[in-house]
Amino acid sequence: MPDPIAYAQAHREEHLAELIEFLCIPSVSTQPEHKADVDHAAQWLAGRLTAVGLENVRVIQTAGHPLVYADWLHAPDAPTVLVYGHYDVQPAEPFDLWQSPPFVPTVRDNYLYARGASDDKGQVYLHVKAVEALLRSHGRLPLNVKFIIEGEEEMGGASLSAFIPQNRDLLAADVALVSDTMMVSPEQPAIVYGLRGMCYVLLDIQGPKRDLHSGSFGGGVDNPLNVLGHIIAKLKDETGHVLIPGFYDQVRPLTPEERDILAHYPFDEVGWLAETGAPQPWGEPAFTLVERLGARPTLDVHGVIGGYTGAGGKTVLPAHAHAKFSMRLVPDQDPAQIRALVQAYVASIMPPTVTYQLHFQGSAPASLSDLHHPAMAAAKSACQATFGREPVFMREGGSIPVVAEFQTILGLETVLLGFGLQSDQIHAPNERFYLPNYFRGIETSIRFLQAYGRAPG
Ligand code: BES
Ligand code: MN
Ligand code: MN
Repeated sequence: MPDPIAYAQAHREEHLAELIEFLCIPSVSTQPEHKADVDHAAQWLAGRLTAVGLENVRVIQTAGHPLVYADWLHAPDAPTVLVYGHYDVQPAEPFDLWQSPPFVPTVRDNYLYARGASDDKGQVYLHVKAVEALLRSHGRLPLNVKFIIEGEEEMGGASLSAFIPQNRDLLAADVALVSDTMMVSPEQPAIVYGLRGMCYVLLDIQGPKRDLHSGSFGGGVDNPLNVLGHIIAKLKDETGHVLIPGFYDQVRPLTPEERDILAHYPFDEVGWLAETGAPQPWGEPAFTLVERLGARPTLDVHGVIGGYTGAGGKTVLPAHAHAKFSMRLVPDQDPAQIRALVQAYVASIMPPTVTYQLHFQGSAPASLSDLHHPAMAAAKSACQATFGREPVFMREGGSIPVVAEFQTILGLETVLLGFGLQSDQIHAPNERFYLPNYFRGIETSIRFLQAYGRAPG
């Protein structure tokens, strides 16, 4: 009897070679000069989905980057899994900090280094290889599978958001399966049951109509850069408490059951701190570090632009100043409501000595998955069989905007079964993927599809 696990183990070299091909394509979604590469990645992926035996493979054009869809629907009595992932990647800059070029995938010490290796090409492709192993071994799958892979996740996922409500039947399933998160450590798998949401803000402040001499005018005209400093200082206090009135009103309190789950999460605080390089941990004193990292909302400033930053001094009173900041949201904070609170608060603290504009970019609600869904049990047994350990359940602080939409629009729970590591350096130079977990990810996916295929509908 052919065995899909044996098939996967016998084809590791090809599975690696194909992932390397995928990673050579610089599909950076936010940079217009990479538009052709993004399209190429979608076409390449569609070609691979066809080659493994998936059907109805489509590259779907959108207002932005294409979506890639494929399915195999010949198991009428079994459930349907919707596999989601993204083929777009973050920009690779600054290039000079990469030990090997970001789009020349390179293996060093069991890690594959390339932009997108962990986030998310390696993680999405392992499901393609799992389907291949099952189809080559048995000529059929143990359940129905649909793939929907987007090219805009790293820019907020607008095209998929627009597509979902228009294509409910196409995407209908019993559960979504997503690999775009992290394990606890190389040997300890994790199932993420909560993701934070996001509200991203750009603030522009204008003062005088042009830069002024700070001797002639300083003391008589307000300085937008000073104003920006005051505004930022009023967004949150030193302990991490956000000062926007109403910000916490909708935060669903952690249940004792959840605080217990999070308290038993095997968190390596020393290793985590070393990964950051910060002198010590920081944050809201009433919550544990694990709670603060996944289950509490935050606010962070990402960038400030203003004034003179060139060589030497320049005594200038700048005409304008700008900041980018975002809030990570938790259930049941509503991004639209948070946006209104930000607007009202900034209006209340902005002095009349300047003018300003707020622009809101990406926004996504948080999500929490049902731990008692039958697919969770299937994921658990698949991890146990592959890693020899039960997965731990955790909340992740990052965001995957589509997961809340699967829940609210398609009524789908999501199993977030990730194979990355915190040390993968995603979004940073020298992103990498731990190869043993690429291969174990393929095996886990095979076992998940088998176990969930047997689950009572
Ligand atoms: N895969 C990440 C989400 C993630 C981050 C999971 C860290 C686990 C750990 C995803 O690709 C991502 O980067 N999301 C963005 C979303 C934003 C652009 C709307 C994020 O979290 O910043
Ligand atoms: Mn990702
Ligand atoms: Mn990402």
